[in-house]
Amino acid sequence: MKTPVTVLGLGAMGTALARTFLAAGHPTTVWNRTPGRSPELDALGAIRATTPAEAVATGPLVVVCLLVDATVRSTLDGLDLSGKAVVNLTNGTPAQARDTAGRVAAVGAEYLDGGIMAVPAMIGGPGAFIFYSGSPVAFERHTADLAVLGRPEYVGGDAGLAALHDIALLSAMYGMFGGAQHALALVGSEKIPAAPFTEAFLLPWLTAMLTALPRIAKDLDEGPQSGPAGSNLAMQAAAYDNLIDASVAQDIDPGLLSPMGELLRRAVAAGHGTEDLAALVPLLRRSA
Ligand SMILES: NC(=O)c1ccc[n+]([C@@H]2O[C@H](COP(=O)([O-])OP(=O)(O)OC[C@H]3O[C@@H](n4cnc5c(N)ncnc54)[C@H](OP(=O)(O)O)[C@@H]3O)[C@@H](O)[C@H]2O)c1
Repeated sequence: MKTPVTVLGLGAMGTALARTFLAAGHPTTVWNRTPGRSPELDALGAIRATTPAEAVATGPLVVVCLLVDATVRSTLDGLDLSGKAVVNLTNGTPAQARDTAGRVAAVGAEYLDGGIMAVPAMIGGPGAFIFYSGSPVAFERHTADLAVLGRPEYVGGDAGLAALHDIALLSAMYGMFGGAQHALALVGSEKIPAAPFTEAFLLPWLTAMLTALPRIAKDLDEGPQSGPAGSNLAMQAAAYDNLIDASVAQDIDPGLLSPMGELLRRAVAAGHGTEDLAALVPLLRRSA
C-alpha cells in the first residue's frame, strides 16, 4: 500500500504532481479552490475533496502547490494538521518558508519546504529535481514517496534553504534568458530570423560559455587562480560599452544589459581589472 497523498492546488503544476502520484499508485486526494479543475484526474482515480479540511484529513502526507505564499497561508490556516507532514512546493522566499515552517510546527506537524526545478511536463521524468529543506524526520519518512515526482535534493534543516537554492537557479535562468532575448532583439533589428541564428550561433555560444562556470566557482571558493586571467575585467569593461552603444544605435533598449556594465566598471575601479568574472560576485553584496 503506497502512502496516501493529499494535493492542495490543481493548477498546471499541482495537476502534474497529482497525476504522477496517481500513476505511481498513491491513493491521492485532491482539492482545488475552483471545483472540477483537471477532470482527467478523475479517470486516474483521484478522490475529490470539497474543502481543504476534508482533503488533509485523508492521509499523512499533504503536498501544497498553490500560486503564492499568501494563498498557502489562507488555505492552511485553521486546518488540523497534527501528526502530518506538510510539503509546500509553492514558489516563495526563504523568509516565507521559515515563517510557514514555524506556523506548521506550532500545530504539531512536520514541515518541508520545496523548490521544483522542472516544468509540469517534466514531473515524474528523469530531468526533474526538487530541492527540499526543513524537517529531516519528514524528509526521511517520505523520501521514497516524493521521489516519484523528481530527484529529491535535501539541502538542510533550515526550512529557508530550498527556496534559496530555487531562487538562485531561477536568477541564473532569468539572467541567461534576458541576455538571449536581448541578442534576439538585436539580430531581429536587422530582420535576421531568430530560429537559424539560435540554432547555429546562440545555443552553441551559450553552451560553450557555460563551461566557464566551474572555474568561476572554484575562484570564489579558493581565491583567484594564479596567472593572468584569459579574459580580464578591464578588457571586458572596455568592450562592454560597445554592447550598449550598438543596442542604442539599433533602437534596442539596453536596460537588461546596463547593470552588468556598471558592475564591470565598479570592479575595475576597485582594482579588480586583472581578475576574471568571479571578482564580480562579492561586489553584488549590498554592503560591498
Ligand atoms: N508551472 C511551472 O512551470 C512551475 C515550475 C516550478 C514551480 N512552479 C510553482 O508551482 C506553483 C503553482 O504553479 P502553477 O503552474 O500550478 O500555477 P497555476 O496554474 O496558475 O495554478 C495556481 C493554483 O493556485 C490556486 N490559487 C490561486 N489563488 C488562490 C487562492 N487565493 N486560494 C486558493 N487557491 C488559489 C489556483 O486555484 P484556481 O484553479 O481556483 O484558480 C490554482 O490551483 C507556483 O508557486 C509556481 O511558481 C510552477
